[in-house]
Amino acid sequence: MAGEDSIQELELSSPPCLHFIAAFLAMEPPDIIISFARDCGGGKILERVQRFIWEHCINRTDTKPFAPYLRSFLKKLIVEIESSGEVVIDELYEKYVYYMSLKDNESVKGNARFSKTISFLFPRECWDLSSCPKSRKLEVLLHCSVNMLEGDTGCTIWPSSLFLSEFILSFPEVFTNKSCFEVGSGVGLVGICLAHIKASQVILSDGDLSTLANMRLNLESNKLTTRNDFLEHAVDSNMVQCLHLPWESAAENELLQIKPDIVLGADVIYDPLCLPHLVRVLAVLLNREGLYADGRNDRSDVCPRNQKCAKSNTCCVFDGSLGKSTRNIDHNDVYMHNGLQRWPVAYIASVIRNIDTFNCFLALAEEANLSVLDITEKMKPFNLLPYAKSYQQSSIRMLCISYLSK
Ligand SMILES: C[S@@+](CC[C@H](N)C(=O)[O-])C[C@H]1O[C@@H](n2cnc3c(N)ncnc32)[C@H](O)[C@@H]1O
Repeated sequence: MAGEDSIQELELSSPPCLHFIAAFLAMEPPDIIISFARDCGGGKILERVQRFIWEHCINRTDTKPFAPYLRSFLKKLIVEIESSGEVVIDELYEKYVYYMSLKDNESVKGNARFSKTISFLFPRECWDLSSCPKSRKLEVLLHCSVNMLEGDTGCTIWPSSLFLSEFILSFPEVFTNKSCFEVGSGVGLVGICLAHIKASQVILSDGDLSTLANMRLNLESNKLTTRNDFLEHAVDSNMVQCLHLPWESAAENELLQIKPDIVLGADVIYDPLCLPHLVRVLAVLLNREGLYADGRNDRSDVCPRNQKCAKSNTCCVFDGSLGKSTRNIDHNDVYMHNGLQRWPVAYIASVIRNIDTFNCFLALAEEANLSVLDITEKMKPFNLLPYAKSYQQSSIRMLCISYLSK
């Protein structure tokens, strides 16, 4: 047994250790986690690092590790330790042998579910944000499927929802006390972040029933209560409404009742067949002309960025057909498309996988009288997931969409 370094404890709150645990709980690829383990030990995975891994990851009692993932991680970890000439502690060997002996259940190959924890780690520059908890981290437990296509793709966490969540937590003043409605909500991560920063109302929606069931489970696992029906006014700030809302069949009068201040969406621009329906839904939700008579949205809010962020005084606007930014405009313009009304507005985070599909979205949006602004460069969120090496902020665009007055 290795022994000479066993007396020293690792500092749990040091960045390498925090990143190591967060990466493990988020089920980042084993190679990434092993490189964090090396960082924790100053380049080596000696006994104290192994004991740290054992205590804070492998032997945790609060989360149940997903057996195939843990087996693969342990295998790579043991090979790494042995090949650098160090001694592997008995507990790691024993656990690996145990997982080797488990036969993969049939369901693992199909639609098996597992839990992962997404930890938003707030760097020092965020500590005065209202979204930053005392613990300096926000942990969200999510049940996901091993099958990326399950629930019409809604039972997996897609990178755009990580980005949109970082955006919400980085600019909480945009969303706090606003009524927020999300389309294609998937696992529900964005809704959990909206509830965390105290949006006045959080309404999530999806067109797939199994995705909705999984979303509700996730919300409840994160101490939120759920409702399946629409309530005009939220009765409790911990309550999230989960609506079955396929874009194709969403009735206009149903959409008109919702009256959100902010519409959100992550990774919803990908299927050309669905785009006309998605754009119709956005146009109905964002067009409030004639709806202000009741005074509910007679708002005089100023652009929230004016209060805080000097860097966001301009935005780019897409050319409706080319998908390129063509001019710079003042950020306030985002909120000025309806004359003096700043709301409603939509924030849609998107990976552009296919430029033709994206241009099709822009053309449909233009036809529907929607302006689409690319605000990615001007409203950059903080990097709250520094350990998530498999996710790149730079692959995502943030669009700000509003209805243009006729
Ligand atoms: C790629 S996933 C993104 C999920 C989640 N927003 C995220 O980023 O992790 C697309 C989501 O949109 C939903 N969706 C796809 N087509 C839809 C439609 N026609 N009507 C309503 N929801 C739809 C899917 O069920 C799925 O949850």
